[in-house]
Amino acid sequence: MFFRFFILWAILQNVRSTKVKLSTGTIEGRTLTASYSPLGNQTGIVFFGVPYVEPPVGNLRFRKPRPPKPWDGVLEAKEYKAACMSDQKKTYKNGVGGPVSEDCLYANVFTNQYCLEHKNCSVMLTIHGGRFVIESASAYDPEIIINNFVGQGRNIVVVTFNYRLGLFGLGMLNGDNQDTNFGLYGLCVNFGSFFRKRNSFKLN
Ligand SMILES: *[C@@H]1O[C@H](CO)[C@@H](O)[C@H](O)[C@H]1NC(C)=O
Ligand SMILES: *[C@@H]1O[C@H](CO)[C@@H](O)[C@H](O)[C@H]1NC(C)=O
Repeated sequence: MFFRFFILWAILQNVRSTKVKLSTGTIEGRTLTASYSPLGNQTGIVFFGVPYVEPPVGNLRFRKPRPPKPWDGVLEAKEYKAACMSDQKKTYKNGVGGPVSEDCLYANVFTNQYCLEHKNCSVMLTIHGGRFVIESASAYDPEIIINNFVGQGRNIVVVTFNYRLGLFGLGMLNGDNQDTNFGLYGLCVNFGSFFRKRNSFKLN
């Protein structure tokens, strides 16, 4: 299965920099400091917008996800990508909105120097809520994740990701005998099998 934890494998593997090599290419994240903690600023290393499938656009709209295409050079993974197609004001929960796009299938990894060095931190994979029509991993406040999970000596690696919503994830078109539930395909099949295989997420 593609979209196995190739991201984690690589990120948990080494380094003193914020650059890591995945099976598909190199990504460069950045450090991020949560400054509101009563216990002092907590610093993590984040990788935003890591492609875990080929973007589901064009001919791939309404289709099951395909493995990501490899890239040359260094892919900047420093900012969130757009949320999946949805009501922006509700997805971002701010009444104002934020970017949404069909090109939204990216994962985000929140870790720190300790976990990169010791390679033995627990990993928490989060699946955002929103009744399959709204919300997004791209709407989580990174500082809250850094402070509450990665920081304070907790050293929990957090992985979030977007999945296709509404019509774009669950559409059953009139006369369509092709893929269904494609938005959740990756979730159930790929992430699901990973959970069954390992109950503790302690990657070494
Ligand atoms: C914490 O972060 C804030 C905002 O970036 C900064 O002003 C403050 O100096 C930092 N505190 C420490 C102890 O580094
Ligand atoms: C991770 O490794 C460090 C040093 O190698 C060790 O001190 C720590 O107890 C380990 N943590 C876990 C959760 O295994």
